[in-house]
Amino acid sequence: MESIRINGKDFVPYITNEKIIAAVDKVAAELNNDFFGSGVTPVMLCVLNGSIIFCGHLMPRLKFSCELASIRLKSYEGTKSTGDVKEVIGLDIDLKGRTVIIVEDIVDTGATIESLVGQLKEKGAADVRVCTFSLKSDVYKRNIKIDYVGLEIANKFIVGWGLDYDQMGRQLADIYILKDQIE
Ligand code: IMP
Ligand code: MG
Repeated sequence: MESIRINGKDFVPYITNEKIIAAVDKVAAELNNDFFGSGVTPVMLCVLNGSIIFCGHLMPRLKFSCELASIRLKSYEGTKSTGDVKEVIGLDIDLKGRTVIIVEDIVDTGATIESLVGQLKEKGAADVRVCTFSLKSDVYKRNIKIDYVGLEIANKFIVGWGLDYDQMGRQLADIYILKDQIE
């Protein structure tokens, strides 16, 4: 794999597509284990835009009945979290009494997840679970349990496989890391 340049910053290969797919398989197996035969029909809530790719790979691996809904949130500017979570596209389904599985690309500070879990509970969701493709486990210090985690990653800025740098790089099949941040 070659290093790449996005909007004037250099990124180097970090996680191969093979490892990414293995992480999706692992999360799908955990969800199937919890929901197959449970009689519960969860709402899989794709957090746009970053989760599109993860959610798109996850859904066909699920062996239980579920619905798909999307929400668009935004907290990042460039390579830093602003801490302020904006809802850009809202929800259009009734969540009263439902089990909702939030499908995220990455949990970093947890600001997004904390705000979203609060909103879903306010809308009457009975059970809210968090499923994330990646977790910056050294950064995340909030109390909300992250139920399903594909990969734990270091506190570095990454792009690819849905994750962007200023909206660019989401189409990359592998994940890259900011070159300035490699030790
Ligand atoms: P949090 O609210 O700080 O947990 O950040 C979560 C959101 O920030 C994610 O849904 C991503 O959109 C974005 N984000 C966090 N870390 C990264 C990263 O390393 N690369 C790209 N986007 C990121
Ligand atoms: Mg995102």
